Amino acid sequence: MTKKYLTVLGIGLAIFFAGCSTDKEQVVTPEQMNFIKSQFDNTLAIAQDPTKIPRTTLEDGSLKTVGIYNWTSGFYAGNLWYMYALTGEERWKDEAIKWTEALDTIQYWSGNHDVGFMMYCSYGNGLKFAGKTEYKDILVQTAKSLSKRYDENTKVIKSWNYRKAWDGKTEWFFPVIIDNMMNLELMFEASLLSGDDSFKKIAIQHAETTMEHHYRDDFSSYHVVDYDTINGNVLDKATCQGFTDASAWARGQAWGFYGYVLCYRYTKDPKFLDFAENIANYMLDHPNLPEDLVPFWDYNVPDEGFVPEWDYNAADFREIPRDASAAAITCSALYELAGYSKQKDKFLTAADQMLGSLLSPAYMAYGEENKYFILNHSVGSIPHGAEIDVPLVYADYYLLEAIYRAKALSKN
Ligand code: GLY
Repeated sequence: MTKKYLTVLGIGLAIFFAGCSTDKEQVVTPEQMNFIKSQFDNTLAIAQDPTKIPRTTLEDGSLKTVGIYNWTSGFYAGNLWYMYALTGEERWKDEAIKWTEALDTIQYWSGNHDVGFMMYCSYGNGLKFAGKTEYKDILVQTAKSLSKRYDENTKVIKSWNYRKAWDGKTEWFFPVIIDNMMNLELMFEASLLSGDDSFKKIAIQHAETTMEHHYRDDFSSYHVVDYDTINGNVLDKATCQGFTDASAWARGQAWGFYGYVLCYRYTKDPKFLDFAENIANYMLDHPNLPEDLVPFWDYNVPDEGFVPEWDYNAADFREIPRDASAAAITCSALYELAGYSKQKDKFLTAADQMLGSLLSPAYMAYGEENKYFILNHSVGSIPHGAEIDVPLVYADYYLLEAIYRAKALSKN
């Protein structure tokens, strides 16, 4: 983060908090909203085929798209649904329907665990914000497809298919990643929509098994846990996208946190609330969390004693990259948690501060480099050398969701 960014960030925060104190409902200024709209207009002007879905930008600033089977395929439709929800303008709804319905065949796909992201952010929001009742059966069918990846011995939903760890030797036969907690929203909703409790039971069991095996005593999480399908034993605990096996990959912490908040939403089981609060406190009280509350891409990068398996050259990162996507996910979930928790003031203050940081010029994509997304400064996967300090469609998704939730809270 350069000095220029920090200065502009300071100004942005001051404007944001001044705005908050005079007009609680003005979570985003008209200027910020106009900028957000203009980024979507730019993207829609060049991206017309809904099977080529915006994900990030390339080094030359051009738009990078992905196909419908990519794990990020539902976020662009989701962003358009949030634009509709935030503005009430029909044009966003028309586009959202087009980008949602291009994903239709995913409902029958069981190739990995990501169908929750793909279909709930798209079809789920269409049902929620536009009353598209014809999407109900599609969501239930998707949950049926995801259920095929649940195993009675491991008591979790399999995330990925067979692959090897970074050491090139360790084999993962039933790898489950913390990100998978996000797919549980689809499962809970599918039970409500269909009256079939089996999806909800799988979701609860997955969340309980993950509490037991993914989390450390300090409430930080491993990224990957591999299970033995014969006896359900844990075979490996490791990372794929984090700094080291023992470290706390920032987006993974955010996914797990969001997942336990939503488990509480659907079950009202206090153990999930406690767990979500503990994860929130791990992140918010972390000594390496920067003052603007936008985390480094992994909480432990600045610490001694963490040695990656992958090829890491510290000289490549004179400044440790932040991950705005992790902040956006965390921020959105903090707004929800604040509505349930006795620590409401702490969580709400943190969420407002995070949102203020993200909406400041330090992270907003003002300027020419990024014409297609709202936020800069997210990280896809540093170990893979992929998408480092770039815009990412899912950072925008959770930012828009956080704005939507902040507005709903301030109205109440
Ligand atoms: N779910 C994949 C990621 O967070 O990068």
